[in-house]
Amino acid sequence: MPRMEETCLLLILLLSGGLSTLPPHSREYHFVNQKMTWTEAQSYCREHFTDLVTIYNSNINQLLLSISPRIDDSAWTGLHDDRYSWKWSMEEKAFYVGSTHEFLIWANGQPDCVNAKEYCVALQGQTEMNDRPCGDSYPFLCYNAKNTSYILVKESRSWSAAQSYCRTYHTDLTSIRSKEEKSNITLTLNGSGVQYVWIGLYRDPWAPWSDNTTSTFTNWMSYPYKEPNNYYGSEDCAALHLMSGVWADGSCTGRDFFFCFTAVTKQTVVKMKLQSEADMHSTEIQQQVSQQVSSSVTNTNLTQVQTMLHVFHHLHILSSCQASCCQKD
Ligand SMILES: *[C@@H]1O[C@H](CO)[C@@H](O)[C@H](O)[C@H]1NC(C)=O
Ligand SMILES: *[C@@H]1O[C@H](CO)[C@@H](O)[C@H](O)[C@H]1NC(C)=O
Ligand SMILES: *[C@@H]1O[C@H](CO)[C@@H](O)[C@H](O)[C@H]1NC(C)=O
Ligand SMILES: *[C@@H]1O[C@H](CO)[C@@H](O)[C@H](O)[C@H]1NC(C)=O
Ligand SMILES: *[C@@H]1O[C@H](CO)[C@@H](O)[C@H](O)[C@H]1NC(C)=O
Repeated sequence: MPRMEETCLLLILLLSGGLSTLPPHSREYHFVNQKMTWTEAQSYCREHFTDLVTIYNSNINQLLLSISPRIDDSAWTGLHDDRYSWKWSMEEKAFYVGSTHEFLIWANGQPDCVNAKEYCVALQGQTEMNDRPCGDSYPFLCYNAKNTSYILVKESRSWSAAQSYCRTYHTDLTSIRSKEEKSNITLTLNGSGVQYVWIGLYRDPWAPWSDNTTSTFTNWMSYPYKEPNNYYGSEDCAALHLMSGVWADGSCTGRDFFFCFTAVTKQTVVKMKLQSEADMHSTEIQQQVSQQVSSSVTNTNLTQVQTMLHVFHHLHILSSCQASCCQKD
């Protein structure tokens, strides 16, 4: 008969919240009393805390005011407007469009997001791209995947009405993903005389925040200036005014105070007693135990929680454990 060996393992479960999955109330907020550019502030927050703050509601906005001095100055938040976060309507996927792409050429000085209102792209002069207000009415180019053709619709519509039209009667607003597509489009437009024509490129304004989460809450200043307005042409970062709590866009290279947050991490130590005939010192057995515990933890309501599991596999820890925790618990 095999000797019944009673061994115990001390399992330490470090349950720590995944950043994006933690609800906002388990965050701690910090006002940093130093002036930095938005990017420097972001690095500082990521190094010393978790990230620049995301403001999900007016309570958090109020809380930030309560931990900062009431002075006529501003502090960066994690809100920024990424001028190169373009997506194609047809793919709904992020698509980076640099300024030097061989077949995607921005017209001089574009994208400029005039008045912080230009989130859709039109071809200008048939070959160059220009970001324009999505509500402007222009002719548009649909793509039909059934017969791989480009259809110029000369009736002027807003970008989203044009998108609906193309999705109803063809496939979608056209993408330009290759030199071939670009030259076919140029051919389609040749001689049409249109100045601006909508294509399928667009982006989401002011999303996501620095920590990659999104929020529908905004607290932009409405008076005396209607913010965001991109007043100086490169105002792609949002700061909170420390007296009024309202937000305004500013140049990301300007220096401001800033707010960081820390995702609060829960650590729970779980001690377990295991009784087995198997050799608990074997790495293989320990891995099996480790997997089982991991899956039982993720089956509970802690599914959103990252689980780090350490099984101590040093003999001396096992023996001291046998002497103390196994007897007590
Ligand atoms: C492709 O199909 C669409 C929709 O039926 C039609 O409007 C268009 O003229 C066709 N193009 C070609 C080149 O066949
Ligand atoms: C575009 O034009 C090229 C020739 O330049 C042709 O081979 C290709 O089939 C065309 N594609 C579409 C989708 O019209
Ligand atoms: C546009 O069409 C004209 C004739 O209508 C032609 O001479 C010209 O080469 C075309 N341009 C391009 C870029 O295809
Ligand atoms: C940000 O979130 C999106 C979806 O919510 C995800 O696809 C993307 O990978 C995330 N990016 C980073 C850098 O975490
Ligand atoms: C998980 O949460 C739900 C309600 O949110 C509750 O009914 C259920 O009993 C919980 N399960 C466990 C294992 O705690």
